[in-house]
Amino acid sequence: MTETNEPHINKSSCSYCGNAPINHSLSFIESLVSITLDNQAKKVIKYVPFFVKSFVDLVPEYLFRSLVFLKLASFSDDIDKANNFRSRIIWEEAKKRGIKMEQVIFFNKPLDYYRAMLKFGDKDKFYYFESIPIKPEFSDMSNNWDDKVILKQELGKQGIPVPAHFEFSPFSFLNNKDTEKIFSKLNKPVIVKPRVGSRGRHTITNINTLEQFKQGIEIAGQICSYLVAEEHLSGSVCRATFVNGALAGFYKGQAPTLIGDGKKTIKELIKDMDDRRPERVEPVRITKELHDHIARSGFYTNDVLPAGVSLTLTHRNGRLFGGQTKEMVEELHPSFIPILKKAVDITGLQVVGFDCIIPDPTAEQASQKWGIIECNTLPFIDLHYFALEGKPRNIAGMIWDMWKQA
Ligand SMILES: Nc1ncnc2c1ncn2[C@@H]1O[C@H](COP(=O)(O)OP(=O)(O)O)[C@@H](O)[C@H]1O
Ligand SMILES: [Mg+2]
Repeated sequence: MTETNEPHINKSSCSYCGNAPINHSLSFIESLVSITLDNQAKKVIKYVPFFVKSFVDLVPEYLFRSLVFLKLASFSDDIDKANNFRSRIIWEEAKKRGIKMEQVIFFNKPLDYYRAMLKFGDKDKFYYFESIPIKPEFSDMSNNWDDKVILKQELGKQGIPVPAHFEFSPFSFLNNKDTEKIFSKLNKPVIVKPRVGSRGRHTITNINTLEQFKQGIEIAGQICSYLVAEEHLSGSVCRATFVNGALAGFYKGQAPTLIGDGKKTIKELIKDMDDRRPERVEPVRITKELHDHIARSGFYTNDVLPAGVSLTLTHRNGRLFGGQTKEMVEELHPSFIPILKKAVDITGLQVVGFDCIIPDPTAEQASQKWGIIECNTLPFIDLHYFALEGKPRNIAGMIWDMWKQA
């Protein structure tokens, strides 16, 4: 793929949304309904008979076929309309393999739903999917693995490293006493984030005081009705993507970080960083989120950064935010693999991306404090294609390979 096809930055009106703005009220209401329902549904689903689950899997197919019949939807073979890079990579790989793939167009709007002509037994049939053609599996219906509380509870029970955490219901985060109690129980610094969310939106890290904690709750609570507070782990944010139980890619992202010289202000150091910035790295944007982030470390942009002091500018990682990225599956210390593999087995997911925070992924896991912070059931596999350093991994190829196996 050419560089012009790479993901790029979008400017957002809310700095806490980063480069992926969303409607706050809508997201809040959606989370209230979906998390509450999910928690209830989980209890019911265990007792749902197998044929009902199979029916649920067939819903997209019947839905899209009916919409086409009613002339409300159509199918397109124009790869340039793919909704995102994740889907495009899947589509490019399908083309290479001669697999016919089409996109659902609903009222002229291309959706992130597709169909591909695949073999089922000795028959060729269209299979309908959202972005990634994951084989129909039912085990993932018993838990919402994207829920950051459920994931940590389940992994923690099996001895997999996860940060200590507490959940807030929509009612408890209005209650000062609960807030103080939770804050006092966690080792500092702590972080607050939406219980279900993505793209690092409205996530507040490096919280050291009760005042900052309350502000964090206020900000995270703007987009999600349920929140999670957890111990802040230090290190690089890494993404381990597994396909069919095997480690398919391992990517390390670093936040833009300044090192003080005792002479220049933070603003000047950011300017220097921008002047030296490699072509594919986006500039650091000085936003409210950045001001608040460095204020939690006790700095303002006009302050001189003392010599040798290291200051991260945001919790956001990677080249889109002025940071670094490296694809390094071969360098990952082998001691991490059985633990990550156990986490995959617990979820039962065929395609999964775990976000971990690790000080040094090349060193023995037991020698450092690390943990899994979240699970992505529809992971951005394109992360493994566009790193600044390291060899890209053909994750889409590994996903299509699963369909070759009986
Ligand atoms: N426990 C933690 N310690 C330190 N940083 C964290 C922690 N949890 C989240 N973060 C930071 O917030 C970002 C977003 O958190 P994550 O759980 O991955 O949610 P998202 O679904 O928004 O990606 C992470 O990439 C990391 O930079
Ligand atoms: Mg994440």
